Amino acid sequence: MDKLVIEGGVPLVGSIEISGSKNAALPLLMAAILIDDEVTFTSVPDLRDIRTSVMLLDLLGCPGSFAPEQGVVVRRAAELRPEAPYELVKTMRASVLCLGPLLARLGQARVAMPGGCAIGARPVDLHLSALEKMGARFELEDGYILGRCRRLHGARIHFDFPTVGGTENVMMAAALAEGETVLENAAREPEIVELAQFLRSCGARIEGEDSGIIHIQGVPLLHGCTHAVMPDRIEAGTFMVAAGITGGELLLRNCPWDELETVIGKLEQMGMSLTPTPEGVLARCNPDRPLSCVDVVTRPYPGFPTDMQAQIMALMCLAEGSGIITENIFENRFMHVQELVRLGADIRLSGHTAVVRGVRRLNGAPVMASDLRASASLVLAGLAARGTTTVQRIYHLDRGYSRIEAKLNAVGARIRREKDED
Ligand code: UD1
Repeated sequence: MDKLVIEGGVPLVGSIEISGSKNAALPLLMAAILIDDEVTFTSVPDLRDIRTSVMLLDLLGCPGSFAPEQGVVVRRAAELRPEAPYELVKTMRASVLCLGPLLARLGQARVAMPGGCAIGARPVDLHLSALEKMGARFELEDGYILGRCRRLHGARIHFDFPTVGGTENVMMAAALAEGETVLENAAREPEIVELAQFLRSCGARIEGEDSGIIHIQGVPLLHGCTHAVMPDRIEAGTFMVAAGITGGELLLRNCPWDELETVIGKLEQMGMSLTPTPEGVLARCNPDRPLSCVDVVTRPYPGFPTDMQAQIMALMCLAEGSGIITENIFENRFMHVQELVRLGADIRLSGHTAVVRGVRRLNGAPVMASDLRASASLVLAGLAARGTTTVQRIYHLDRGYSRIEAKLNAVGARIRREKDED
């Protein structure tokens, strides 16, 4: 197991290239199951979850290959197989996104139940009840979701909560279903829009993907295409915070701007300056204005993303005043709080809110990463802390950030990757 050893206190200055989006790429790769042809994805981030997805596609009968420069090529399936084994699903919850495509193509699927994870129970009941409305039947057998159907048919589906994964799973299934599917209270995240655009390039008939009400007219067959994955808005937001927390100045190339509107708004409210330029987004602090705490409430897009909650908390730890962070999406997404406190932060937790009082400085210490974005917040805090911070269990970080220490070291950070003896 690897750990990161961070010598903090250096302002980061320079430019960083934002990679392709993990959360956009994973559903796109699963959508390849729907397509009776070769598909190529470019700008794919070099992450463990991507390699796991390619492995899963292989097991499902869609032979794929990944190379960091070329991206992912998924060749036409000779024969699809219905089983997504637990060994893969347990390492990557997004594997459950093969359920809708398998049912649509094969009329059956056997997908391991993803189970809970560090940030909460994360059930898939909304995925299943929506697919049932389209004609699928499910049983739970030995920890596996067993799904069967004849050809899926269109349906009117109202999500009780605008679930991102649920919307993706059902949109993919509906692309090949018979007749029209209408998804109400659907998620509107940019990754949903990206998936709809990709499916349209393959011949799908989808409208309204950015409106919360998605109309999908099923077609009998989808054809292949080449698709470039959008830049990662969460990686970009994380590096914006890296500039702010170290008092540095970073030019973020290939940085999405519109998709980060709420995050940028909050960082500006805290006192950071974010400027779009032809080369990228320039992120820095205002020399004449110290950062101050703000209140943050996570909500579905276009609200403040839960995937940026831990990072903005790290920034608030060293800002003036106090602020309240309310986590509305996942019930257990404050695992980073106790670790930030170990570095000297002043944070009080009560249910799904955290009150952060800014302190003058953080001091390096050994800390433990518990999930992907929690790990990012600990790296950010370590970059600003005095002395040495050791972040253990960074395999979480490697699932979502491509070459993070190389990117940060290139702009002045002092981070080493070491083998952890524990
Ligand atoms: C996706 C993202 C994740 C992000 C999240 C919210 C990927 C691979 N992951 O996760 O990074 O944090 O969106 O923006 O893109 N829920 C149910 N029943 C369901 C489905 C969801 O109760 O059937 C609940 C979940 O437990 C959670 C909330 O709804 O509390 C949001 O989940 P959802 O939007 O589905 O998130 P994911 O797709 O898992």
